[in-house]
Amino acid sequence: MGSLEEELEKLRVEVENCRRCPLHRGRNKPVLGEGPAPARIMLVGEAPGYWEDRQGRPFVGAAGKFLNELLAEAGLKREEVYITNVVKCRPPGNRDPKPEEEEACAPYLERQLSLLRPSLICTLGSHATARILTHFGLKPQPITRIHGKAFKAGSLLGEVTIIPLFHPASALYKPPMRSLQLEDWRRVGGLLAELGLKP
Ligand code: URA
Ligand code: SF4
Repeated sequence: MGSLEEELEKLRVEVENCRRCPLHRGRNKPVLGEGPAPARIMLVGEAPGYWEDRQGRPFVGAAGKFLNELLAEAGLKREEVYITNVVKCRPPGNRDPKPEEEEACAPYLERQLSLLRPSLICTLGSHATARILTHFGLKPQPITRIHGKAFKAGSLLGEVTIIPLFHPASALYKPPMRSLQLEDWRRVGGLLAELGLKP
């Protein structure tokens, strides 16, 4: 294995050339993710949307703008967290990714996890929540029931805390979701101190 930077670069090139699922056909730019490496905190969204696909960067559209507000509510700057998605290519018309597409793309997320070794993972929305909980051997549960709660999981890389959160885009078409999400992220802020992730 090369250095962390070399391994991440290798991953970027692989994703750029990936044809493991049909989503490669409609993509403009795949979105691997961005942020510090190693990453103490990792955010996992669902899939790139229109602007992410144009720019090759995660959460740069309207949902991303709200995500920046949510991060601020937790006392976090965007540059302090690594942000990625369950699938790296945009589904046509922003439809939900299909289970087989998520399955095809899963090895990339798994490599990101083992390279970046986050101690806190915030899952954004039901897709990321189900994926990550299952990956760490936990039982998936509805996001409406477990949002804002902390789950501990052991892994080969040490203890990981997982906090399921609503997808920021849900506030764009359901305004009451705004305050609910801001509240959850304030709780994330409190947890950061407990976990020693923020001075
Ligand atoms: N929604 C997501 O799930 N991910 C992005 O990167 C942008 C919007
Ligand atoms: Fe490959 Fe993932 Fe893109 Fe599908 S979504 S083509 S598996 S990188």
